[in-house]
Amino acid sequence: MTVATKISEVRQQVKDWKRNGLTVGLVPTMGYLHEGHASLIKTSVEHCDKTVVSVFLNPTQFAPNEDLESYPRDFDNDKKLCEEMGADLVFHPEVSEMYDEDSSTFVEILSDMPKQLCGKTRPIHFRGVCTVVSKLFNIVTPDKAFFGEKDAQQLAIIRKMVKDMSYGIEIIGCPIVRESDGLAKSSRNTYLSDEERKAALCLSKAVNLGKEIIANGEKNAETVISKMKELINNEPLAKIDYVEAVDGVTMNPVKEIKENTLVAMAVYIGKTRLIDNFSVK
Ligand code: PAJ
Repeated sequence: MTVATKISEVRQQVKDWKRNGLTVGLVPTMGYLHEGHASLIKTSVEHCDKTVVSVFLNPTQFAPNEDLESYPRDFDNDKKLCEEMGADLVFHPEVSEMYDEDSSTFVEILSDMPKQLCGKTRPIHFRGVCTVVSKLFNIVTPDKAFFGEKDAQQLAIIRKMVKDMSYGIEIIGCPIVRESDGLAKSSRNTYLSDEERKAALCLSKAVNLGKEIIANGEKNAETVISKMKELINNEPLAKIDYVEAVDGVTMNPVKEIKENTLVAMAVYIGKTRLIDNFSVK
């Protein structure tokens, strides 16, 4: 496995692979990798001849009041995990390699899609995500790219960007990987104290409750959401940012639960903002 810090190294390597007729998969990450990321890398290795993992803590998707500075980092461990999962190339650029000082071009979806859910409290977030993912697509030119369903709005937005911009890259969504007690794996779980870690279980419990109510035949989105909110509000350390039912493609709110409805939430546990979701099958 090779580690590249320069865009030119990645381009050269991918050019060599493509000359030999090999397919390339891309797994974009911000590092501090865990089993959730590992499952994406494993899926890419299964689907593609060569797998590139990018490890880049992208500043343009963080607002000034967010956790860019404190975001956990451990590149030695990231490298180890990538190697174990069978990745071929890790792209780990400096911020200055990805963004010129006078960089001023952004990729932004102008519909309501990035304004829903997480976009309500993180208004510049998805513009930063689209811009960096678009740059990674231009650098790596993958055949397929792998994203987690944990960030369901991000996945839907990337699919839309790929369609709108004719990227010709197949986007593959991978299921949420959870801790044994149900908490969705996240680099941000490391912020939680022992007490908060226990409290954080209210997210996955709300997911399970929502699934159960729907499986029992409830179709009214408001009823499902209010029961999920009630469960979360019973946890003193939890503060709801949102719990919403939206269309799985457009991210627009829905009144009736049907196939492909996404039920998504963001909840503060202390100062840590965690997300979770499920899709109605
Ligand atoms: P990051 O939070 O590091 O996540 C990288 C990828 O791992 C995303 O596609 C995310 O959905 C997936 N992932 C994280 N936790 C997961 C879990 N528990 N189960 C399954 N997949 C999981 O998402 C980003 O980075 C950035 O926004 C990025 C796309 C890299 C752009 O900077």
